[in-house]
Amino acid sequence: MPVDLDMLRVQLRAKQSTTTFAHTLGVVAAVELLAARYDIDREQARLAAFLHDVARDMETSELLKRILEYGILIDEIEAKEPLLLHAKVGAAMGRTLFGIEDEAVLQAVERHTTGAPGMTALDAVIYVADYIEPGRDSPGVDEVRRAAGQDLGHALVLAMNGTVQYLLRENRLVHPRTVDARNHLLREGMVVSHQG
Ligand SMILES: [Fe+2]
Ligand SMILES: [Fe+2]
Repeated sequence: MPVDLDMLRVQLRAKQSTTTFAHTLGVVAAVELLAARYDIDREQARLAAFLHDVARDMETSELLKRILEYGILIDEIEAKEPLLLHAKVGAAMGRTLFGIEDEAVLQAVERHTTGAPGMTALDAVIYVADYIEPGRDSPGVDEVRRAAGQDLGHALVLAMNGTVQYLLRENRLVHPRTVDARNHLLREGMVVSHQG
């Protein structure tokens, strides 16, 4: 059953904070450009972009409640940095509440915070769009924007570098999946493939 994007958009507008909704629309705009540039299915990319932060504004208690409800397994780092959980919860909500059955879309949502080893081009587009959407102004974002127009894998590594640098500056935990994702990319010559 095709997912009604307009309905999803209306629900997000009602549930997300103004800031998160504006960010979501920015990510949708960014994936439109990246999907065209890297020959990625536009509908999958738009759907993942709309969905990616559906759980972003939830309180920790609500995230943990959903973790139990959906039977999601979490690790020690996720338990200590519960903000990370919005990615897994968002994917589970996509499946159960919005009827999304496309595993590639759900995977891209699930991977958008930490990344993961062996990211697909769709995963990469969502991760990079999340980093470079027009509302973002983190240090080095323009370099990632430039790279995103030329080489998706390179842009992905730069976005991960920026994320890790931010976590180091803030003295926060770095999820090992992010380190594995980045190492994997560098070992593979920063190539992302269309297949998972
Ligand atoms: Fe997010
Ligand atoms: Fe986001």
